[in-house]
Amino acid sequence: MSFEWPNSFSRIPDADWVQQPVEALALNYDSVEAHGWYANLDHTLHQLGEALESGSILIDYSGGTGILAQRLLREFPDLDCGVLVVDSSPKFLRLALEKFRNERRVAFRHIRYLREERRLERVDEVVGSAVLERRVEALVSTNAVHLYFDLADTVRAWREVLKPNGKVFIQSGNIRHPEMGETDWLIDETVHVIHETAREIVLQDSGYEAYRDVLTDADYVEAHDTLRNKYFLPVRALEYYVEVLEQEGFRITSVERMTIPARVDQWYDFLSVYHEGVLGWVGGAEKVTGSPTAQRVIEDRLSLMRASLQRMFVGQSTFGASWTYITCEPAPPASG
Ligand SMILES: C[S@@+](CC[C@H](N)C(=O)[O-])C[C@H]1O[C@@H](n2cnc3c(N)ncnc32)[C@H](O)[C@@H]1O
Repeated sequence: MSFEWPNSFSRIPDADWVQQPVEALALNYDSVEAHGWYANLDHTLHQLGEALESGSILIDYSGGTGILAQRLLREFPDLDCGVLVVDSSPKFLRLALEKFRNERRVAFRHIRYLREERRLERVDEVVGSAVLERRVEALVSTNAVHLYFDLADTVRAWREVLKPNGKVFIQSGNIRHPEMGETDWLIDETVHVIHETAREIVLQDSGYEAYRDVLTDADYVEAHDTLRNKYFLPVRALEYYVEVLEQEGFRITSVERMTIPARVDQWYDFLSVYHEGVLGWVGGAEKVTGSPTAQRVIEDRLSLMRASLQRMFVGQSTFGASWTYITCEPAPPASG
């Protein structure tokens, strides 16, 4: 293997986050690695395996805790490429660093929030001049594109770091695809149905009577709806992503959709960490009320979440989650 980063490029930047300990938040997210629904990465790995050539650099944009990078290197152990993990969460990056500190093919960059400008740094502002001059062969974004509130700015910056023949691989379980099956779910939309179902249960089951009165308080309900939509953003349609990518100078090369089986118990395990976002109205979310939540209230939220999932997926241990895969490349400049 002969892959080399450009001369003046440091794999591990000299930054505060590098010195911090690994935190529970990141370890908790990373547990999805073992979940069946993370088979959503298989198709992306296949696409990358076909596209990456010896000496290539792949930017793993929103690479998080490094799950994709880990699988890529496991699946293709002789991969003669560099993977630059770029993410806005220093805690997630810190865990990625823990996994790859001694793996010379993996490098890290943090996207900071620029408070005065009220925006995140763009990818071309964080990769450094050596990578910017060289440009990269490929960029991948898994399970994250639905989180970009500034999608146009984000993908415009991707163009700045890609070679003219570079390739982009995007995938998410939160893109509404026109050919989704009737029984398929967009994975975060389960949260809104859990909320509705929990509401029904609270109104019917005297065991949850203590949480009924707030349901008629419109301001309280609205504040918690707003909070839920911050944790789990409203889903946008495929058309929106295609339009923005095309407007920003990309040519779409493929759109594929697959149904990934998600185990109900594993999805519960994942969501239980975000109980405040899903069912914060049960007892009042600290982010809304300013008061810490009692342990017994958290237990009620969790038991309501389990009861709702049971009601939603009667007798089913899995549900089908729709995943959309988009590939694109910089469009050639218009001739004439
Ligand atoms: C659900 S995780 C997915 C992580 C990883 N790609 C994977 O598939 O496991 C979403 C990631 O997107 C990052 N993220 C969220 N908003 C972002 C933004 N606006 N720009 C870049 N990354 C963002 C988060 O920090 C997080 O690491």
